[in-house]
Amino acid sequence: MSASKSELKSEPGSKRYRPETRLVHSGTLRSQFGETSEALFLTQGYVYDSSLTAERRFKNEDPGYQYSRFSNPTVSMFEQRMAALEGAEAARATATGMAAVTTAVMGQLRAGDHVVASKALFGSCRYVVEEHCNRYGIASTLVDGTDLAQWKNAVRPNTKTFFLESPTNPTLEVLDIKAIAEIAHAAGATLVVDNVFATPMYQRPLELGADCVVYSATKHIDGQGRCLGGVVLGSEKFIQDNIHQLIRQTGPSLSPFNAWVLLKGLETLAVRVQRQTDTAAAVATALANHPKITRLIYPGRPDHPQAAVAHRQMRAGSTLVAFEVTGEKAGAFRFQDSLKLVKISNNLGDAKSLITHPATTTHQRLTPAARAELGISDGLVRLSCGLEHHDDIVEDLMTALAAV
Ligand SMILES: Cc1ncc(COP(=O)(O)O)c(C=O)c1O
Repeated sequence: MSASKSELKSEPGSKRYRPETRLVHSGTLRSQFGETSEALFLTQGYVYDSSLTAERRFKNEDPGYQYSRFSNPTVSMFEQRMAALEGAEAARATATGMAAVTTAVMGQLRAGDHVVASKALFGSCRYVVEEHCNRYGIASTLVDGTDLAQWKNAVRPNTKTFFLESPTNPTLEVLDIKAIAEIAHAAGATLVVDNVFATPMYQRPLELGADCVVYSATKHIDGQGRCLGGVVLGSEKFIQDNIHQLIRQTGPSLSPFNAWVLLKGLETLAVRVQRQTDTAAAVATALANHPKITRLIYPGRPDHPQAAVAHRQMRAGSTLVAFEVTGEKAGAFRFQDSLKLVKISNNLGDAKSLITHPATTTHQRLTPAARAELGISDGLVRLSCGLEHHDDIVEDLMTALAAV
């Protein structure tokens, strides 16, 4: 028998449920075996019960699966669950967060177009905008994302899209998504938001006016250091016009196995992110007046430079804290190397607390001047709080600070 979508039973519509419930149930497709946990359809292709079925399926007259580069039941479950969580009409999963960002930004653009992005971007995202777009004849302008006038002034007649992340990596600046979406739309452009740092639990860019949201599912969505993944979300029209064919034909697709891991990750996302945020807030409070910390950035605190915007558009602080240790690079290295529990790693959103020194890792390819402009000093470290007991993390940080 050929695989037909109608043979898989979907979970009833879950719009009325709260996000925590959607994370567990939305998008589930049950096979005839009635499994509790989502099935892993580890298959490349599908067989058809007749030539006519194959023909009809390729003509989109029969609603079945054809090939896992662009359709697979386990991947569909992940896409549907993400769409339900985000309040998006459509979602497409990708192999990594960078595949999601590249597809979302470049999928909309042609040679001769122009993109405006905030300067404070994860290193690879900045290269997509500044280098890869430019290689294909797409011009770009980078602005200080917190300055609305710079977004307005950057607009050209050929501006097609704006791109930002908020909170930003690694300095946790909070950008006003609603105001930037209004500027983009007034210019006839779209807004793409990389929502990795906020997570779908704390910020809904589509509700704030964005046209497209992207995630590195590698971060909080898996949250347990196991696999890479990404997702692009938007209206059905946005996805059909810009994303669907590009993914189908160029193939940055998510593997069914990773989709299954990510589905399992989603089930616990709300509790993990809540706990990690409580820990990050406790860490920020503990470090705030420490004599060896010269600057502390946490979006949940009233002393955050964009506290009012954070309060307006985010439901809670963040699972990350950034801070500057005295003694510049040597001080930051000594601090990191003295940690016992917190691990040195450039990843984030993990069950394990992870610390990174952006100037020498994620942002080391930027010039010293570009780093200085972004506030990425040689003493800055970024801490991603894990699921350990918060007192153990604070004790580890305090002991390491004593060694600086
Ligand atoms: C803000 C942000 N966007 C995108 C990515 C890229 O995600 P991935 O590593 O899954 O490709 C990262 C990775 O660190 C990130 O921090």
